[in-house]
Formats: sequence, structure tokens, C-alpha cells
Amino acid sequence: MMKKVIPDFQEGKREGLVTLTRRASLASDRYRMLFAKVDQLCRMPEKKMIALTSSVKGEGKTTTSSNLAVVCARDFGKRCLIVDGDFKNPTLAKQFELGDEPGLIDVIEGKVQLGSAFRKGPVENLAILPMGRRSGKENNIWTTEEIKHVLTEVRAWFDYIWIDAPPILPLFDMSLISDSVDGILVVVRAGEVPEQVLTQAMKSLGSSKIIGSVLNRAKMEWPAQYYGYGY
Ligand SMILES: Nc1ncnc2c1ncn2[C@@H]1O[C@H](COP(=O)(O)OP(=O)(O)O)[C@@H](O)[C@H]1O
Ligand SMILES: [Mg+2]
Repeated sequence: MMKKVIPDFQEGKREGLVTLTRRASLASDRYRMLFAKVDQLCRMPEKKMIALTSSVKGEGKTTTSSNLAVVCARDFGKRCLIVDGDFKNPTLAKQFELGDEPGLIDVIEGKVQLGSAFRKGPVENLAILPMGRRSGKENNIWTTEEIKHVLTEVRAWFDYIWIDAPPILPLFDMSLISDSVDGILVVVRAGEVPEQVLTQAMKSLGSSKIIGSVLNRAKMEWPAQYYGYGY
């Protein structure tokens, strides 16, 4: 199974979209390599919908999916969408400095037409669908069918769709998403989650759609400041 490493790029400051702020960094290069690998592993179908999950929250799903979406659109020229699918902890709007509404929830509930819910991203070819209005219905009342319906419709508009999905634990939220997608990437925060928790989580997800894992925030021996294009 594919396993890729993304370095810890924070260097003390809070910074999510490293592919925007430091396009030539080691971290940005790693995201490009990760995208190329995913693309290679998912030759079929034509339109690709990839969910990023993790065993628990805070491992880097939003960061990884956002940076993947940026390189996918800007550096590989695909028509891209990133969707916030993390019902309990939606942070995609904040990551891209957008207002919360409208979003996926509003589309599912029929309050907004899908076509008018997409937002323009910070690079060409990238659209964003945030979670939208927080309905207060914390324990999702949506069914897999309702979500599948919307996500199927979304496919018509884009080449690549990245879903910033819920963590595997607790189980229910991710099961709403996994039905609709073509592939699942599991983000693992380096040194944080015990191997058994990860194994257990992946087992309970039980999905043949898992295409690989991303070891996130790894301490790289190669200092980022010495890294540049040209060698
Ligand atoms: N590779 C990385 N290097 C540095 N900081 C990171 C990296 N990946 C994630 N982070 C930081 O870790 C925190 C949690 O990441 P986030 O993507 O929000 O996790 P999740 O969406 O899985 O809950 C955020 O503050 C984010 O900026
Ligand atoms: Mg998140």
C-alpha cells in the first residue's frame, strides 16, 4: 500500500496552506509527489473523488486535503473541488478564509442550488464547498443516500474532488462519506497515534477503497531552508 511522508512545515508559526505561501518548499514538493502518486494509483475512473480521513481528529486531514487541492488545480491544471465533509469539526471555510455559508449542508437540505454553492478558491481551477450553515443538528440526520445524491451531482462539474472527511472514530460520520468516494487516504500524524489505534480504525472502516496513508508532520532530516529548486 502506498505510504507517503509530509514534513512538519510549521516552524513555530501557524500556517496551513504552505503550497500557497511557500510554493517551492520541501513541503510543497511533497504534496506534489503525493498528488502524482494518487493520480497514478487512480487511473480509473475519469472523475475522481478522494476522501481524506484519519483515526482521530487533529492529524491533518484539512491541511493535507487543502494543499493537495491547491497543487492539483494550480500545478497539475485539473478542474478541482474541495468539499468540507467533516460534520462535527468543519474548518475548511476558515482554512481558505471564506465565510461559512452557503455550503454542503445547505445543498443537502435543498436550500441552495449546487451550482451556486461553489466558491472560488485562491488559485485558478479550484472551487471550494464549505460545510455551510451549522444546523445545530450535531448528530447528523442526513442519510448516506442524501449525501450520495449530492456528491454524485458534484462529479459532473470537476475532474478531481477532494473530500475533507470526518475521522474514522467515531464510526458513523465517515460511513456517510465512504460510500460515495473512489478512494480513501488515511492521514496519520507522526508520533501521535499508537499503531494499534490506527490498525483498529482502519479495520473498522473496513473499506477496500483505502489507497494508502500519509505520514504527516514527520520531522525531516533535510532542513527546509536548504531546499530550493535547481538541484
Ligand atoms: N504537515 C504539517 N506541518 C505543520 N503543521 C501541520 C501539518 N499538518 C497539520 N498541521 C497543523 O495541525 C493542526 C491540525 O491539522 P488539521 O489539518 O486541522 O487536522 P484535522 O483536519 O485532521 O483535524 C493544524 O493547526 C494544522 O495547521
Ligand atoms: Mg479538519
